[in-house]
Amino acid sequence: MDWKVRVCASVEEVRAAVSPIWHYFGRTGPNENQIAPLTRVLPTERVHAVWDDDRVVGGAGAFPFTLTVPGGRVRAAGVTVVGVLPTHRRRGVLRSMMRAQLDACRERGESVAYLWATEDTIYGRFGYGVASYSIEVDIPRERSAYYTPAASAGHTRLVPLGEAEPLVAPVWERVAAVTPGMFARSSAWWQARALADPDWRRRGGGDLQCAVLEAGGRSTAYALYRINAGADRGVQVGSLDVVEAMGDAPEATRAIWRFLLDVDLTARTRASLLPVDHPLLLLVAEPRRLRANVRDGLWVRLVDVGAALSARSYAVPGSVVIEVVDEFCPWNHGRWRVGADGVARTSEPPELACDVTALGSVYLGGLTWAQLGKSLRVAELRPGALTRADALFRSATAPWCPEIF
Ligand SMILES: CC(C)(COP(=O)(O)OP(=O)(O)OC[C@H]1O[C@@H](n2cnc3c(N)ncnc32)[C@H](O)[C@@H]1OP(=O)(O)O)[C@@H](O)C(=O)NCCC(=O)NCCS
Repeated sequence: MDWKVRVCASVEEVRAAVSPIWHYFGRTGPNENQIAPLTRVLPTERVHAVWDDDRVVGGAGAFPFTLTVPGGRVRAAGVTVVGVLPTHRRRGVLRSMMRAQLDACRERGESVAYLWATEDTIYGRFGYGVASYSIEVDIPRERSAYYTPAASAGHTRLVPLGEAEPLVAPVWERVAAVTPGMFARSSAWWQARALADPDWRRRGGGDLQCAVLEAGGRSTAYALYRINAGADRGVQVGSLDVVEAMGDAPEATRAIWRFLLDVDLTARTRASLLPVDHPLLLLVAEPRRLRANVRDGLWVRLVDVGAALSARSYAVPGSVVIEVVDEFCPWNHGRWRVGADGVARTSEPPELACDVTALGSVYLGGLTWAQLGKSLRVAELRPGALTRADALFRSATAPWCPEIF
């Protein structure tokens, strides 16, 4: 090994550290308009760079997030901009960055790390497990009627992006507070990311639009979207592409989606990153016409098993003893009693045995222990333990992260 990993000490070093992933975006590195917003929300010291002499050949970052988990919130690392230049691939550069990053999370007291994976083959070996699924829909406008038509639960208006934050941020916060998988957004995040509309993020689409639903003198839902206009021999073929839409109550969600589905001069409405329990699946009269497809969503890694499992709630009284194998973070290795009365190491006989990736999968309530059992990702050492564990870990709300970070 003739290279070294260390945290960045300047914005210029961050620029160098993120250049490997930019390489895979087809760019040599981020320009000024790209690096400035990134470093507003990604602290310099949260970016690791790998140096080969005086050149950076790999980089990995971690947003300092507050992540919602069932029944609570926990400090978590949102892993991002991971890349290794093709000149240095498969020599252990990623592995050394993962080592340094997870050690740093542990030192900072972040008991969870999570991410969106570009490839599903990369992160399991570092202890990340698939923790949620997300749904993509593509709805022809003429097949988008609701099962039960209803009057709108308020008044929708278009808001300039520069005025949107005070209207949309409270809605996000109300939804994020009770939805596992969502993180608290700072004002900097709204300005630098969610409400920013630089050309390079449009990918050929139109301007970012913001619609806000108001009722009773306050905002209750919003949608960020782009119109990709198009016509073929006079017939509309364009789409309305939803970037993010949510309401703080079922009526508000129904109303903002009705707005999105009814915009004229578009042939269809497209959205992705929806949670598997998204209301749209049952709001529409023709669910098949959503043309929904599913892919893996968040990947979660428990950095500190005891602290992470203590930070969430459990749905019923009782507990289960789990034998955990964690080769990459051996401090988690061992037997844990997990339940509403607390989470602690124990010497009692284990009832379930699994790799730490399985804990990542069930942590947000997105996958069940029964699913893991059927896939042989967990061994049931005492009959009934899987059912008991599912009763404990159950979450009424599926995990949802509306944004790829
Ligand atoms: C994915 C990437 C970061 C891997 O970096 P790397 O330095 O080549 O990885 P390492 O050499 O440290 O590999 C560590 C292990 O992961 C495996 N691995 C790495 N990338 C893999 C991939 N894309 N698919 C399957 N396995 C992979 C290696 O084979 C190695 O396995 P081992 O532990 O059994 O020896 C690099 O290929 C890359 O930058 N890809 C494009 C950008 C990207 O996908 N980034 C991820 C963003 S979420």
